[in-house]
Amino acid sequence: MRRRDFVQGGLAVAANAALQVPAVQSAAPPRRIPYGSAVRGDALVDDFEYRTALIDRCQLIVPEGVLKWETLRPSEDRFDFYYGDKLLSFADQNGMKMRGHTLIWYAAMPEWTKSIRGGKASEKALTKHIHTVVGNYKGRIPSWDVINEAIADDPRGSDYLRPNLWLENMGKGYIETAFRRAAETDPQVQLVINEYDIECVGEYFKNRRNALLRVVRDLRDRGAPIHAVGFQAHLKGQHEIDKEGVSSFVAELKAMDVDVLVTELDVIDNLLPSDEKQRDEVIAGRATDLLQAISDANQPTAILTWGITDRYTWVPTWFTREDGSPNRPLPLDRDYKAKPLMDAIERFTTPA
Ligand code: XIL
Repeated sequence: MRRRDFVQGGLAVAANAALQVPAVQSAAPPRRIPYGSAVRGDALVDDFEYRTALIDRCQLIVPEGVLKWETLRPSEDRFDFYYGDKLLSFADQNGMKMRGHTLIWYAAMPEWTKSIRGGKASEKALTKHIHTVVGNYKGRIPSWDVINEAIADDPRGSDYLRPNLWLENMGKGYIETAFRRAAETDPQVQLVINEYDIECVGEYFKNRRNALLRVVRDLRDRGAPIHAVGFQAHLKGQHEIDKEGVSSFVAELKAMDVDVLVTELDVIDNLLPSDEKQRDEVIAGRATDLLQAISDANQPTAILTWGITDRYTWVPTWFTREDGSPNRPLPLDRDYKAKPLMDAIERFTTPA
């Protein structure tokens, strides 16, 4: 079975279970694209409606924080899988799959990692982390964000990668090494490079897409196991989607046999109108434009939002509104009522 079939097949089974579609032998495989959400463990425990909304609507979840180094690695010798395992049991018990986020990211690194220095020690630390974490979830997590946000904020010339511990100590080869370590630990898993600000119109976004293409092409040329690009899709509501740019980007990836998925969709609405109805329409429109532009070139393997309800979202941490009204970046409002963004997503996930 090919890796992609394994991932999609597995997710399709989960989707069937969640939707209680009767299994019909010899029927064509369902074309549903799995929908999922980032999840916060504390809310899952405290808020029954949150739990219910996830169970009712998702075929996939991804931990919003607890698989990052900050939580997983309290010290050099310890791996704390407690919170990750809890979320995985929640997924298992409810017929959902869980993605892994994320093995390598410049942020959410514990203090002690500052003492990792030199090429050899860094490679050893990176290898130990990936072998242990991917190994712990082997066969249970079908898709991992191996590298998160590798591209420099404003990539120029040879400075196209974002500085981090690994780049400083190992050079750009850290990316290839991370993918190889993940693949050798669980050969069935979908390995993803995940990136933000690659969706909209403008030089800044175009440069970032091009830099990411350069990284993927380089990995492919070297025969490294990379399977998909994740569009984080933290869309800035005031910017239009670069439909042509996105479609041709996805087509170039497809030509290299690299899939795409949407990993962290939300629409940042701090600069959008106060009127809620109007705002919700713009938000749904931006998501539709992105999902259409991607689908025109290749079907995404999954669509996930970064949370499911406006009650729990990272957006106000960075993008509060000047009129003081709460942000509305996600598919359900604070009272779990579906908004136009939910309908927009469902048009892509559910076959006609
Ligand atoms: C964010 C979480 O949502 C916050 O709760 C946390 O404090 C910081 O990280 N891109 C990513 C995610 O890949 O991991 C980030 O998540 C949001 C931006």
